[in-house]
Amino acid sequence: MASSITPDMTVEFAGLRLKNPVIAAAGTFGYGVEFADLLDLGELGALVTKGLSRQPMAGNPAPRLAETPAGLLNSVGLQNIGVEAFIREKLPRLRTCGTVVIANVFGEATEDYIEVVSRLEAAEGVAAYELNLSCPNTARGGMIFGCNQDLIHEVAAAVKKISRRPVLVKLTPNTADITPLAQAAEGAGADALSLINTLIGMQLPASGRSLPRNSGGLSGPAIHPLAVRIVRQAVCAVNIPVIGIGGVICGADAAEFLRAGAVAVEVGTASFYDPRATVRVAHELQEYCARRGLRSVTDLRTSQNNR
Ligand SMILES: Cc1cc2nc3c(=O)[nH]c(=O)nc-3n(C[C@H](O)[C@H](O)[C@H](O)COP(=O)(O)O)c2cc1C
Repeated sequence: MASSITPDMTVEFAGLRLKNPVIAAAGTFGYGVEFADLLDLGELGALVTKGLSRQPMAGNPAPRLAETPAGLLNSVGLQNIGVEAFIREKLPRLRTCGTVVIANVFGEATEDYIEVVSRLEAAEGVAAYELNLSCPNTARGGMIFGCNQDLIHEVAAAVKKISRRPVLVKLTPNTADITPLAQAAEGAGADALSLINTLIGMQLPASGRSLPRNSGGLSGPAIHPLAVRIVRQAVCAVNIPVIGIGGVICGADAAEFLRAGAVAVEVGTASFYDPRATVRVAHELQEYCARRGLRSVTDLRTSQNNR
């Protein structure tokens, strides 16, 4: 028999209160404002901006995207307008969009993260920061921040020191074991973790143009089971909240992350073929909970943990 309960979709974590746990993921939702004509931004749990750097970045030459049977390879190269232009041109409209805005931040050195966050600290309209640590540290010979415990600790602690807002640390799956990396972020004072970012992939087209260096970050349904496993490992390794990302295309995928212990999910690649995917997933997740007679979406987490 169908339940008449309308589940409460509100979630609270890391000092944030979201009307539902479905968030638009970095780099797949522009600066948010581009989607304002396609959906009501106020229906989103939150949105994460495209990655912001100190200076504007042109990104990689085309082609930047390549389809795979169950996902997408991207080599966008973190193209963005830079933090100053974001504050000037995008933030005023985001302030009134009715959802929680999380700024995704990246850099080539710890000082870059500090600089970008400092500038955002002086502006209103951002609720939290998500540090993208899947970037090479040029001062350390290109070592990826997120693959090294010391670098994770260094960046997260430095940003925490200057931030009045929650700091989410976004980890890369391109590592053998997420546990020490998740714990390094927690030890540095991170308020939450978000994972996973894309997995490095390669495509060698038999003809036609290829991605720069034939490589790109793999995202979409292909990575979902892998992401669930890594998210579950992180949930078991730390006491801070974890946001699940990777291949969410429907409400059941989102529920799976929550059942794995995540507090919220981010929807990325799905927005490319359905710009309303984030809102749709939130509705489907609510129906999923209603069918199971749950009063709150947060019951999904506890139901799994009690098994
Ligand atoms: C085209 C593209 C651009 C992205 N840009 C960013 C970015 O700027 N910062 C970031 O942290 N993650 C970025 N990501 C990673 C996504 O936010 C997400 O972690 C990843 O795609 C996995 O989720 P999905 O399978 O739902 O797409 C990007 C992904 C894609 C496909």
